[in-house]
Amino acid sequence: MKTMLNVALPKGRLGEKVYDMFEKAGFECPSIKENNRKLIFENEEVNVRYFWVKPSDVAIYVERGAADIGVAGKDILLEYEPDVYELLDLDIGRCRMAVAAKSDFRDNTQRTLRVATKFSNIAQQYYMSKGRDIDIIHLNGSIEIAPILGLSDVIVDIVETGTTLKENNLEVKETIVPISARLISNKTSYKFKSDQINEILKEMASQMEANK
Ligand code: PRP
Repeated sequence: MKTMLNVALPKGRLGEKVYDMFEKAGFECPSIKENNRKLIFENEEVNVRYFWVKPSDVAIYVERGAADIGVAGKDILLEYEPDVYELLDLDIGRCRMAVAAKSDFRDNTQRTLRVATKFSNIAQQYYMSKGRDIDIIHLNGSIEIAPILGLSDVIVDIVETGTTLKENNLEVKETIVPISARLISNKTSYKFKSDQINEILKEMASQMEANK
């Protein structure tokens, strides 16, 4: 008998796209599409259990084995460096990690650069690789406000369409890294549930090939 495969999905629009990929791969769970507030859905016929979690928490569930697999943004993987396998770039949820500032910002390298961000580790590593001294101001959201109020010189944040920056009179100064959603696996699960996980991996890879 096959064991149940536990899948952590990121709540929101990206998660719905991800679920559709699992469904096409043969791991459907129709009850998930019923509009209710439930967070856990199971289909015993195909041995799958899905749960909706905050996108930034997916990697925690997978790293600790509460989920066997899940889908997380590369931003989260770079920031928290969870001990998981990154199996596949799903090529959805595309955006980039960037440095942004007011258009008239000019870097004065004589001074420590004040960087506001949710992604302290990514920012730290990026500026360390450039040998630039910085002061991290860790915020939890609405990062764009920081340079406007003079709290920071620049921000390190996710840019998707660029609308948020534009509407706050900021612009991208440097791109740090492109971001997209990744299929990740718990390391032990990958050993013991390899048949199911590899089947999903293969099916998703061929869906992506077909969509090219
Ligand atoms: C993210 C990011 C930017 C915005 C970028 O914010 O922090 O604010 O999206 O998207 P855009 O380039 O398409 O405008 P999110 O919605 O995750 O909220 P928060 O960071 O304020 O929590």
